[in-house]
Amino acid sequence: MHEDVERVLIDEGVIEKRLDILAERVMREFRGRELMVVVILKGALVFTADLLRRLPIPLEIECLNVASYHGGTESSGQVDFLDAKLPPVEGRFVLVVDDILDTGRTLAAVEKMLWEQGAQKVKSCVLLSKDKERAAEVEADFVGFGIGDEFVVGYGLDFQGLYRNLPYIGVLKEEVIGELS
Ligand code: IMP
Ligand code: MG
Repeated sequence: MHEDVERVLIDEGVIEKRLDILAERVMREFRGRELMVVVILKGALVFTADLLRRLPIPLEIECLNVASYHGGTESSGQVDFLDAKLPPVEGRFVLVVDDILDTGRTLAAVEKMLWEQGAQKVKSCVLLSKDKERAAEVEADFVGFGIGDEFVVGYGLDFQGLYRNLPYIGVLKEEVIGELS
């Protein structure tokens, strides 16, 4: 375990098994369609890479660079589309993938944009969903794990840009958050 990590919340093996189930469900939803997968950078990178390798259906990958945390451990409340260029989504079947559903603002903003641009179907998949009241009315269609309302890192999720490469989901030691904040 990394020395900055207080405890592991979800280990690698458990994540892998859950991805098999998630992929199966996504396949059932989009079978027979050509899928556009919209990855919300950077947090969903690791999750998406592992999920998509379990999806043997025709699909394209597009990336959206969206930021709402700006380095801290609390959502800033503002969703910025840092780079919002997508190919035409009109009539497309779209799966939005994010690392975690927290306030819901990010997912709500991305889904709204996709519907406004004429997508035929928009579904969302998140690795983690925090058990808390959402600031935006949105829930994900496919959820890896429900977790409590605490700040986690690893498997794509960062604190101040670090820890995305941990192969598990963990909670940082309090003094690490204090030191880096
Ligand atoms: P929302 O818009 O508040 O739902 O936040 C979604 C984004 O905030 C996610 O894509 C993450 O990048 C970030 N985020 C939310 N909770 C955490 C956390 O516990 N650890 C790391 N990043 C988080
Ligand atoms: Mg993110």
